[in-house]
Amino acid sequence: MGRHIPGQGLSQHTEDANFSRFMGILDPSGRVTRATACGMMQLREFARSIVESETLEGKLVAPPEDWIDTEPGEPLLLFAPGRSSRLKILPATEVKVPAMVGLRDKNQRPRILHAMANHELQAIELFAWAILAFPNTPASFRKGLLGILVEEQRHFRLYQERVEANGIGFGDLGVTGYFWNRAGAIRSPIEFSCVMGLTFENANLDFAREFAAEARAIEDFETASAIDVIHHDEIGHVAFGWQWLEHWKDPKASMWDAYLANTAKPLGPGRARGKTFDATDRRKAGLSEEFIQNLERTTPKAPGGLKRNRS
Ligand SMILES: [Fe+2]
Ligand SMILES: [Fe+2]
Repeated sequence: MGRHIPGQGLSQHTEDANFSRFMGILDPSGRVTRATACGMMQLREFARSIVESETLEGKLVAPPEDWIDTEPGEPLLLFAPGRSSRLKILPATEVKVPAMVGLRDKNQRPRILHAMANHELQAIELFAWAILAFPNTPASFRKGLLGILVEEQRHFRLYQERVEANGIGFGDLGVTGYFWNRAGAIRSPIEFSCVMGLTFENANLDFAREFAAEARAIEDFETASAIDVIHHDEIGHVAFGWQWLEHWKDPKASMWDAYLANTAKPLGPGRARGKTFDATDRRKAGLSEEFIQNLERTTPKAPGGLKRNRS
């Protein structure tokens, strides 16, 4: 399987392209409130609408075909996403998510799928967050962030469909903000690549495989094939993190040491893998054998910092 590079299919118009096109712009509630004849949408404007929209509809808007990135602006560090009261982020103590094995119980199944959809929603927002936070980065990095954002929108929809197939709607249960809680500590694009790409998404290579196997075990083939799509995309997301760590790291440092130096506690390699470990997926993402071996030797950690003993 060839390595999938996020953002490859996305167009970016240049300043001399046709400026006569009208474009709608979303307000925080996700409604199109104004149209402008004066130009195409700046990437940062699109990213801001994604983070600040309060509705799901607003989070799932596709980027306009003729987006441009000629005015990336000053770094903008948003500390929280716009959310309607229905999607308000709650403390983790108020939202309990069953272990993956709970898929077997039809009462627990929608709660697990809802939590998975919530991870994707936060991923959508955080890739938009990074577009705003790191304006002074190469065009190919910013285009890659947008490409991944679009894939995270697709992942959200896939899980949303499975949530609905199990009898509830997204937002019927409470949502937590685990990824958002970590965003505040990210100060640079290299840290973003290490935290999102090489920690959360890296671990998801194992979680997705375990989760798809669990779904197949209960003959929920629709959920399994949705996870397969997400799993495949995630290899590209990890590859993106790896490529940009390689680009920005101190040339004298190894990739492993550079990763450790840019992934602050409580995150780190223990959070970059599951209870199981899939070296093949990491090779597909382009990770070096040295990095893979170091990660394989690492004890998997659960979010609380304890040894991971459940999926
Ligand atoms: Fe995703
Ligand atoms: Fe991802």
